[in-house]
Amino acid sequence: MSELVRFGVSMDSKLLTAFDELIERKGYANRSEAIRDLLRNELVRVEWENEEQETVATVTLVYSHEVRELADKLLAIQHEHHRLVVSALHVHLDSHNCLEVLVLRGKAGLVRQIAERLVSTKGVRHGKIAMTTTGAHLH
Ligand code: NI
Repeated sequence: MSELVRFGVSMDSKLLTAFDELIERKGYANRSEAIRDLLRNELVRVEWENEEQETVATVTLVYSHEVRELADKLLAIQHEHHRLVVSALHVHLDSHNCLEVLVLRGKAGLVRQIAERLVSTKGVRHGKIAMTTTGAHLH
């Protein structure tokens, strides 16, 4: 870890009160940790703006394996981009429903495109993309 630097921040007292309420609700130990998290989130968001940036995402999908050709379609998309799909976890939730969590790694533009294609595949009941980071640009 690099050197720890202290700095002062001036802000409107109402804004600070709102911030303190927020960090208490979220369970942060102190303002510093909350500010560090906000900054890291913003840095990750900016990473995703660069389509060429190497990054990672998880895609969560809930679907019924009984919907005609749906499981095959989702698999075909993954095989088409097998270099992007680092890992796939499949859970049989009940006799009808499946949960899949995929880890995608690659250039932000392509990862986003494939993740959105999976989520928007007709028949998927719920899909969520978490765009995160390899951590290389976070210190
Ligand atoms: Ni299943």
